[in-house]
Order: sequence, then structure tokens, then C-alpha cells
Amino acid sequence: MNTIIITGGAGFIGSHVVRLFVNKYPDYRIINLDKLTYAGNLANLKDIEDKPNYKFVKMDICDFESVMKLMQEEAVTGIIHLAAESHVDRSIKDPFTFARTNVMGTLSLLQAAKLYWESLPERFEGKRFYHISTDEVYGALEMTHPEGIEPPFTTVASSGDHHLAYGEKFFTEDLKYQPHSPYSAAKASSDHFVRAYHDTYGLPTIVTNCSNNYGPYQFPEKLIPLFINNIRHRKPLPVYGKGENVRDWLFVEDHARAIDLIFHEGKVAETYNIGGFNEWKNIDIIKVLIQTVDRALGRVKLETSKTGETVETYPDMDLITYVTDRAGHDLRYAIDSRKLQRELGWEPSLQFEEGIERTVRWYLDNQEWMDNVTSGDYQRYYEGMYANR
Ligand code: NAD
Ligand code: DAU
Repeated sequence: MNTIIITGGAGFIGSHVVRLFVNKYPDYRIINLDKLTYAGNLANLKDIEDKPNYKFVKMDICDFESVMKLMQEEAVTGIIHLAAESHVDRSIKDPFTFARTNVMGTLSLLQAAKLYWESLPERFEGKRFYHISTDEVYGALEMTHPEGIEPPFTTVASSGDHHLAYGEKFFTEDLKYQPHSPYSAAKASSDHFVRAYHDTYGLPTIVTNCSNNYGPYQFPEKLIPLFINNIRHRKPLPVYGKGENVRDWLFVEDHARAIDLIFHEGKVAETYNIGGFNEWKNIDIIKVLIQTVDRALGRVKLETSKTGETVETYPDMDLITYVTDRAGHDLRYAIDSRKLQRELGWEPSLQFEEGIERTVRWYLDNQEWMDNVTSGDYQRYYEGMYANR
């Protein structure tokens, strides 16, 4: 019997991983361990909460004693660790919370797994500690080709219109860590602890580093849901700096599929990079969001050009507002995930155009979810982060 703790299962990516495992593996027991911070939301899991193989436990990963007790009582065989403080802007304002959760919380889970599994006759046999990390630990890549070049690799899911790279270098698994934000420094530190537990104690660990995820259930502090919500309500769109920073976007369900594959077939002590082969400048993605929302809400206007042609115009382009840049803003992230493609046969399944269409549609169709997460504290957060920026 596999009994797996998924930490951070009430968050954005975690909820997709929990859903996938609960539905795909009815004979596993899936325990969602989550503290329910501002980012955790059990409404993300409404559709599976009554399944017999699912259990929610409200717990702080930093609470070592309780984690240890839970592991023993439930005879846990695997951990997929996603719980973290995840927003870079918040880490700039409050780095201590990030060190506590991301570093000490990971250490507490590692130590509980080590002690509990060591106490069993079979020890680490058949056990797995899978740590979900980020590409941000590698630092920032140069933008050697701001106009875009053909990338040296492609997948079936590479974005049709926009499959360009903005530099010659990519993040590979052997790169040195160079984190710049308190968030990525804390994630880097947690990655080092995970590897140290393998190298020192033989704990069967795996680490993956993934690029920017997008899709349903993402908290609207992150670019895509925040901008979709603001466009809908015709609020200004706060573009940091010149909007030239590049991110590599992956649909969240494709990340969850990769996690499933790696949890079952990845090699212990290995690192795998997971990415979308899908680089976009922020400003370009923002324009796609405006076009998609305006089309969905029937806001597109038809105008006649000087040459007499009928052209579509998008009134909400006027919402774009350039604001003070993020401190230490990393210029470009771009993952080379060919190791995962080569060794385990994974690649993204969804083209970006389709993914963004589905994502916009989901947020527009789930206004109640959005209203719930943007009431109360969110308004204070928004004021603090964006007023006078
Ligand atoms: P999220 O902020 O949406 O969710 C985090 C979850 O962790 C929430 O449910 C929260 O309640 C829970 N949590 C926070 N502190 C906790 C604690 N002390 N104890 C127990 N639970 C706690 O995050 P996300 O975007 O889904 O990211 C999940 C993981 O994936 C993180 O480790 C993040 O670093 C990593 N990651 C995220 C992305 C991305 O684009 N979002 C990309 C690569 C890697
Ligand atoms: O690369 C993986 C990382 O992606 C994850 O590890 C993080 O958890 C996740 O939050 C994400 O980090 P980013 O900082 O890249 O994501 P965010 O959505 O905050 O910002 C994306 C880009 O958009 C970034 O260049 C900053 C910019 N931005 C963001 C916000 C919120 C804006 O221009 N305006 C905004 O209001």
C-alpha cells in the first residue's frame, strides 16, 4: 500500500498534483498536508474531497513533532513536497517567513522521513522523498538576442506563433546555483538540504526544478491570474520595468504529469529540469491576455484602417501601466528539459495558445472563486504592493 503525503496540496500546483494522484491511483492513500496560509484553499479540491483515498490534514511543515507522528500513524511511504512560500515580491518584503517555511520546513520533513523510515525493518527500501523546486535557483540568463532566435530544441507543444528563444544559454541540471531573491535563496537552500540528506544518510531523494506554471487555481498575486482579474474589472495592469523580462511558461497540468512520472520512474538522487520550451517577454504575454479576455467578454472593437480594411482593436490595451521594477528582477529564465524528455519521455502536451485560452476561460467562469480569494486580506496586500509604485 502506497501512502503518500503531498505537502502544499491546497495551493496552486499542489492541488493539481493531489487531484491527479487521487483520481489516477485509487489504491494509494493520498494525504494532503497543508497549513492553509493565504495561498492554501480547500475550494481548489472540492471535486475530490469526498474520495475514499483522500485525506486532508491541517499542519505546519515546520512542526517536526506533528509531522513525525503523522508519518508513524499513517505508515507513510512517500513524500511529494510542494509546500512553500512561493511569491518573489512577498519574499522581498518579508524574507524571514521564506527562510522559516522553505528552509526549516523542508528540514523538518527530511528529518521526520529519515527517522521514521530508518526505524522500519526495510528502512529506505521502496521509499521516496520528492522535492519540488524552481528554476529561479539558477539565477538569471542573459538576453543575448532580444529580437528572438530559433531555439535549438522543440517539442510537439512548442507555441506555434511564438517559439523563440531570447538567448543562447539555457538552464541545465549541472548549472551552478546563483539565486537572487530571498525566495530563490530559500528554495536553493532547501534543495541543498535535500541533496545533503541523500549524500549523508542515503535518503532516497529526487529534486526537480520547474519553470513558471500557469493555469486554473493560481493565487492572483502572480502575473497571469492577477492580470486576467484586473482586465476583467478594467483596473490598471502594473507592468514591472519595461515588461522585457522573459519567462518560460508551462501549463500546470503538464507539470503535474511530470511529477507523477518522476515520482514513479525518476532515478534516486537525480535532478530533472521541467520546462515549457516556451519563452515569452512579459509584455507580449500581457497583450495576449488582453486580447483573449477582450474577445471572451465581447469587448473587441472593429475599426476601419486608413487602407479601408476592417481591423480588430482591444480597448483594454490602455490599461497597461509601467511601474517601478521589482528589486533584483531576474531578466530571463529558460529551461532546457531535454534530460527529462530523453530519459523518461516527458514533454509538455499543451500548446501555449490553447493553454492560455483554457486558463482565461477558467478564471472568467469561476468568478466566485476569484471573489473569495480577493476579498479581505488581498485588498490590503494589493494596496501595500502596488499603491504609489
Ligand atoms: P502556492 O503558494 O500556490 O501554494 C503553497 C501551498 O503551501 C499553500 O497551499 C500553502 O497553504 C502551503 N504552505 C505554505 N506554508 C506552509 C507550511 N509552513 N506548512 C504547510 N503548508 C504550507 O505555491 P505553488 O505556486 O503551487 O508552488 C508550489 C511549489 O512549487 C513551491 O515549492 C514552489 O517553490 C514550486 N514552484 C512553483 C512554480 C510556479 O510557477 N508557481 C514553479 C516552479 C516551482
Ligand atoms: O520560475 C518559476 C517561478 O515562477 C516560481 O518558482 C515562483 O514560485 C513563481 O511565483 C514564479 O515566479 P515569477 O516571479 O517569475 O512569477 P510572477 O508571476 O510573480 O511574475 C512573472 C513575471 O511578471 C516577472 O517577470 C514579474 C512580472 N510581473 C509580475 C507581477 C505580479 C509584473 O510585471 N507585474 C506584476 O504585477
